Amino acid sequence: MLTRHAAAVAEGETVDPGRAALAALVRTARAEQTVGAVRLVDIAADADDTAAVAAVRSAPGEDVSAVRDGGTAHVQRLRPVPEPDALTVPREILPVGGTALLTGGLGGIGREVVGYLLSALGARLLLTGRTPEAELGGERREALEEFRELGEVAYVSVDAADGPALEAAVADAERRWGRPLDAVFHLAGADVRDHWDALEAHALTAETADGLAAMMRPKAGGARAVEGLLAARPGTAAVLFSSVNGFFGGSSFGAYAAANAALDGYAERWAAEGRTVRSIAWSMWDRTGMNEGSPLAAAARHRGLRGIDPARGVQLLLAALARPETCLLAGPDPANAYIAPYVTGVRRRGPAGPARAAYSPPEGELEREVAAVWEDVLGVDRVGRDDTFFVLGGDSLRVMRMIGRLNERFAAALPVSAVYDHPTVRALAAALT
Ligand SMILES: NC(=O)c1ccc[n+]([C@@H]2O[C@H](COP(=O)([O-])OP(=O)(O)OC[C@H]3O[C@@H](n4cnc5c(N)ncnc54)[C@H](OP(=O)(O)O)[C@@H]3O)[C@@H](O)[C@H]2O)c1
Repeated sequence: MLTRHAAAVAEGETVDPGRAALAALVRTARAEQTVGAVRLVDIAADADDTAAVAAVRSAPGEDVSAVRDGGTAHVQRLRPVPEPDALTVPREILPVGGTALLTGGLGGIGREVVGYLLSALGARLLLTGRTPEAELGGERREALEEFRELGEVAYVSVDAADGPALEAAVADAERRWGRPLDAVFHLAGADVRDHWDALEAHALTAETADGLAAMMRPKAGGARAVEGLLAARPGTAAVLFSSVNGFFGGSSFGAYAAANAALDGYAERWAAEGRTVRSIAWSMWDRTGMNEGSPLAAAARHRGLRGIDPARGVQLLLAALARPETCLLAGPDPANAYIAPYVTGVRRRGPAGPARAAYSPPEGELEREVAAVWEDVLGVDRVGRDDTFFVLGGDSLRVMRMIGRLNERFAAALPVSAVYDHPTVRALAAALT
């Protein structure tokens, strides 16, 4: 995939958020192994055809790269940064008694953030969501009542992607507050819970335009609407709630990953214009929000995407706001074998994982059948009895497929979690007896 403006390398280069989203689709396609050799090369805005052809030949082992200045390949790497011991939100983002809009403010993470901003900063807040106030369910309604006892909080039902409606709600709040908006916290995001039981339907080869649009609307459409607000408010800061899927892609979460990569693209664009902005890409919050109770949490943890306790999440948010970087990832374990190849200092060509066990052949009919199912599901040859499903490239989608196949073949009822407790052929075969 050849792009222009999907990534900024040098100062002054502009990022198009829609094109920034493509890298996440490429990484998703590689994770899903739908297309063997896909990669993205971003070329300079003024590169000619010859330069484009040369660019495609550079950095062949990289899934995503940018080629500039007559053929120099640049790759995106994560850099671990120290976590400041931040106790509050920096003034330039939100001063004490300041005013803020929180799209998706009554969601799981939003409620934690709102609680902090009210109690620690005495902020005045406008919360939005699509649900009309009268229809807010238990937890959200109770939280709103509690927030109103704590401070000045308004809730308006408005779709984050509806620019004019968002502008009207903010202008109305600003009239009441008697001052302009200090900050926007953009948290609105489509619920991914319905993907959990439909992983096949959300693999890239099956994903639909409607599915993509549903993920894009609150995140990227919402960011475009926020961009409209910011245009008229040069001093307003922005804090975007993104996902690590935007960087790594995500098996069966390609559309969600793309939406988050677009969000990061908006942050880069606004930062280049001189705006105070942070895009924080979270791994997984525990016990609240859209990942609460996720059956995929164990697979994500295995791949280095650590769970974040809500209190720790607020601490990480403050730390991220105190850092100067525009885009930050919060939660991934840089030492994890799946994450390490993307971290500075650990140079490897292409995505890699932990080392495979030395081959020892499956023993007995059961182990042989389990190994054969793995070979088929993972597209790997010569699976041995000590091979680990995840080391061979197994992700949540393949876990579901593999367990489904074994249950059908052996008329068994293994839960999906069995492969996390028994990750080798030998152990899983034993679990089937
Ligand atoms: N939870 C995690 O582990 C995690 C990890 C990485 C990133 N994130 C990101 O962090 C943000 C907050 O996540 P969460 O866990 O708090 O999710 P959540 O509990 O599902 O809350 C999302 C909120 O967004 C609102 N929303 C959805 N679509 C909207 C739209 N079109 N316009 C306006 N509001 C909309 C929802 O309210 P209505 O239904 O009333 O519209 C809801 O209040 C999301 O953007 C998510 O992608 C979360």
